[in-house]
Amino acid sequence: MARVNHGNLFQHAIECAAAERLSAAGTGLRLVATHAMAPYEGVTGTARPDDERVLRELLGQVACLPPEGADAAPHAVMRAYARAGARVEHYPNTAELLAALVGRDQLSGVLCETRPEAVAALAQAWTGSPLRIVPGSWRDHLDELLPPSPAVTPWLFCMDPYTWRHQGERKREVLGGDLAPSDLEGLRPYLAAHVKGEQPGACLIFVYGLDPSHAGGFRRGVLALADRLGVARAVVGVAGPEGTRHLGAILASDADLPSLVAEAWDGMRSTLGLA
Ligand SMILES: C[S@@+](CC[C@H](N)C(=O)[O-])C[C@H]1O[C@@H](n2cnc3c(N)ncnc32)[C@H](O)[C@@H]1O
Repeated sequence: MARVNHGNLFQHAIECAAAERLSAAGTGLRLVATHAMAPYEGVTGTARPDDERVLRELLGQVACLPPEGADAAPHAVMRAYARAGARVEHYPNTAELLAALVGRDQLSGVLCETRPEAVAALAQAWTGSPLRIVPGSWRDHLDELLPPSPAVTPWLFCMDPYTWRHQGERKREVLGGDLAPSDLEGLRPYLAAHVKGEQPGACLIFVYGLDPSHAGGFRRGVLALADRLGVARAVVGVAGPEGTRHLGAILASDADLPSLVAEAWDGMRSTLGLA
């Protein structure tokens, strides 16, 4: 069960904006999702009625669009929600939203997931597709996330851990669904392999509910990673519960992509009145 909050909207708005740009040439998109989730899950209630209201209202607007209206929706994530039939009780994961946005037959890549019931649902949804399901923790399957050589499609590497931990707050074996500085260090050679390929692409990393100290640590960590990789970057955010922030890092081989995606999110955030 995912939770109803701005985090779902935040993550998926940015992923859809990036995917739409990267797939514009029509040559397909290679998706890596390290925390895939089942294709659709109901989302539970939240302690923050305002968060739930925003997502419910937006999905309500989308549900009222006539079928041909999906194409005219102003934001990529709204077009994806409309085509995927997103509802709070039937909320799509990243792969379903991108399939709805860019075309199911355009997607290849890898989805990593630890929960057996979600793995089984993913395997069923993607039978016969070049999108492979990898059961288990992404940390144990890094080699399987590597791009083909030569790379033939643009790529999108999406990470959706729960939150950011400072180094030493948790040992590797109990990091589970969280992300820590050692993870960014471990990922660097794998992201470098993507960046060195002939195709453009982006790595998107989302973390939720950060207090100012954790937000500063995440920001420093991803900016240092981007500099080591020699890629363009932006860090975007939205208010989370109790004074925290949800943050997203956009690292891209194309110099313009992070600012274009960040502008798309800022436009949507202000339309929705989110802080
Ligand atoms: C917040 S949900 C991800 C939501 C998803 N990215 C989406 O499309 O909306 C987190 C998912 O990651 C899975 N997960 C947690 N730790 C993981 C790990 N180390 N490796 C792979 N999947 C993990 C959980 O079982 C859960 O389905």
